[in-house]
Amino acid sequence: MIALLRWYSAMGVDMAVDDAPHDRLAECAAALSPPLGEAPAPAAAPPKPEAAASPPRQSPRERREPPAALPADRLEQTARESAASAQTLDELREALLKFEGCGLKATATQLVFGDGNPQAEIMFVGEAPGADEDRQGVPFVGRAGQLLDKMLAAIGLDRSKVYIANVVPWRPPGNRTPTPLETSVCLPFTRRQIELVHPKILVCLGAASAQTLLGNKDGIMRMRGRWLDYLSGAERIKALAMLHPAYLLRQPAQKKLAWQDLRLLAKEIARLQPPSQHAAGPAKAVE
Ligand code: URA
Repeated sequence: MIALLRWYSAMGVDMAVDDAPHDRLAECAAALSPPLGEAPAPAAAPPKPEAAASPPRQSPRERREPPAALPADRLEQTARESAASAQTLDELREALLKFEGCGLKATATQLVFGDGNPQAEIMFVGEAPGADEDRQGVPFVGRAGQLLDKMLAAIGLDRSKVYIANVVPWRPPGNRTPTPLETSVCLPFTRRQIELVHPKILVCLGAASAQTLLGNKDGIMRMRGRWLDYLSGAERIKALAMLHPAYLLRQPAQKKLAWQDLRLLAKEIARLQPPSQHAAGPAKAVE
């Protein structure tokens, strides 16, 4: 049983979404036109009597249905309007809580909005929450997050001196890559979040974040190691693309590149601040 559960978890089946199983193949077959003269197939098996009789199962979260299929441009337009109406980070969080245009909301446990200091001059943006973040509702708290904390500490930073968010604020099931539509409907909220935090430096963690926010199709190895621009309205914000800490956990030999980027970041932070207030203390290499 344990082995089976582990296998489910590895395949991305790590939570129950509904009380009763669905026969998706039967649903698909029913959606197709039946051949002439044949009765349409039933959409799904009727619920078993014992399932109907059993008491409702306690669910850790409210049951939600995925959004009705709307054209992508309508979803993006709704997202843009909703995000633009938020004047504060709290309002933006509320707007996301009400937003029904991203299917990931139906499978995630909760919204993972942001963490750290909203007044910070440095903002980090990752790709999407993982299982630990989904459970706790806080970005970068799992193994990758612990490595990120060490990376911050190596240049004298911690979560009181930076703000952290993700391009997509709900966990994709099984940690799969968010689809282009999921990313594009969440993007107006992330861009507004950046606008409201108004950092002087934006650090994109990983290729997905860098490509989405910087509008650059290059791979992370080409983008990292140099200063780029993030356009926030008419404003240009200095942006750095860095290797994602989850990648560094899988490829520890690449930490030397992350270390070079951290030093670049520390230098820029030192340039931003008067000498007495340097956030970036003496650099210590990351283990
Ligand atoms: N990876 C991310 O990109 N974001 C998180 O919050 C956690 C892991």
